[in-house]
Amino acid sequence: MRTTHYTVDPTRLEGALDEPLFKAVAAEAADKDMAAFAIGGYVRDRLIGRPCKDVDFVVEGDGIAFAQAVAARLAAGPVHVFKNFGTAMFMFGELQVEFVGARKESYSRDSRKPEVEPGTIKDDQERRDFTMNALALSLNSGSLGALVDPFGGLLHLDQGLIRTPLDPDITFSDDPLRMLRAVRFANQLGFTIDPDTFAAIKRNADRLGIISAERIHTELNKIILTPEPSIGFILLRDSGLLQEFFPEFVELSGAEEKFGMGHKDNFHHTLQVLDNVCEKSDDLWLRWGAILHDIAKPRTKRFEPGHGWTFHGHEDKGARMVPGIFRRLKLPLDEQMKFVQKLVALHLRPIALTKEEVTDSAVRRLLFDAGDDIDALMILCRADITSKNEKKKDRYLRNYELVMQKLRDVEEKDRVRNFQPPITGEDIMRAFDIQPCKRIGDIKSVIKDSILDGVIHNDRAEAWQLMLETGRSLGMEPVLTKDPGVPGS
Ligand code: CTP
Repeated sequence: MRTTHYTVDPTRLEGALDEPLFKAVAAEAADKDMAAFAIGGYVRDRLIGRPCKDVDFVVEGDGIAFAQAVAARLAAGPVHVFKNFGTAMFMFGELQVEFVGARKESYSRDSRKPEVEPGTIKDDQERRDFTMNALALSLNSGSLGALVDPFGGLLHLDQGLIRTPLDPDITFSDDPLRMLRAVRFANQLGFTIDPDTFAAIKRNADRLGIISAERIHTELNKIILTPEPSIGFILLRDSGLLQEFFPEFVELSGAEEKFGMGHKDNFHHTLQVLDNVCEKSDDLWLRWGAILHDIAKPRTKRFEPGHGWTFHGHEDKGARMVPGIFRRLKLPLDEQMKFVQKLVALHLRPIALTKEEVTDSAVRRLLFDAGDDIDALMILCRADITSKNEKKKDRYLRNYELVMQKLRDVEEKDRVRNFQPPITGEDIMRAFDIQPCKRIGDIKSVIKDSILDGVIHNDRAEAWQLMLETGRSLGMEPVLTKDPGVPGS
């Protein structure tokens, strides 16, 4: 399961001590005779040579006043103060810098009981999520540069092990989101979740219910944005977390068999499609398209005797399920959701083309329906070819290339992507001197279909002739036979 190995190198932390920010914190700590530490993700990431954009400091004492004094030394600011949480933050160049006073209770910013007692660095460390995130770098004059590591975080970082500093039941009850964070870190860093910690996640999975959808989707999206999100999703399912916020995805698991006929496990298929998409695109919403492309398969599954398993209409039903899932997870309901819906609704279209003889007309229609999203759709389509049967796979891939080529040819020739009909309803009304009525729509459809079917070109003169013919066939006589041109042009 482990896919990445970072080398832990404590000398990387030494460099930090020469940087102006750390010098200012150390100077302030010495002046005020206060204990100050860099802690959390910054220390972890610096040790493993991973870039980081924020630094957290803990001081034993008033974190807000300390932040203000450090900002003044650096001529940085403004300092944003979050009184309820006892934290203060300012930007220093690109770095987001945050200070907090060490506390006894859970430090979590989102904890619903933010009133906490002041404590020591050790109190603060033991209320953090994982040992690797509890590592602190001392900026105190007596111990400048020392790593304060009461829970073996350095060793765990080196072993690639995610473990809670306290009994995991306590750490997770302080903030159940940490269970998702464990999976996210495992996926992002290629680490393993310690078996005791994982067992506690299984025991406490239902406590995720008290966490807001926004916090959940923020972590989930971080998992989806890793290079191989299947790793995270398998952990999410096996721990029971996925069931808590995305049961439709869990339902994809399993393969039924009847009369010796089975179907693929759509959970694993979906994850493979997702990983395939991730090799080609960083677009979060295209990745969501992969996650949801077969989401309605369990709900459309039928066994047809003599034929086997079918999932008729899963693309349309799936597209209809998207808003409910997005709403529950509080994901954006505007263009991003519509894009995902479109991908789900159209995902079979290119695949169908790769299975049949690829006609220009089918390609033109696909281009028309997908518009600017055709490239994303084709990435999904390519990713969806996961057949284990090499012969089938080869055939689909060859046809896929053919579809791609045809898409390029047709687009160049006919410009049907984001196609605007060359004849408008107004043109038709003027040509036949008629008021708005159903026949106008009928004529427009005939013109659109004829262009998409390649009967005429996407060209105004040809469309004008077809409009006259179609109108006549509907019993109307044109008052204008010559095209007067586009009004206003
Ligand atoms: N933390 C915690 N419990 C949480 C969130 C955060 O204990 N639910 C602590 C950890 O010590 C963590 C630090 O707060 O290292 C900073 O949190 P955050 O910025 O969210 O995470 P990072 O560890 O910095 O990692 P990343 O930036 O990748 O999210």
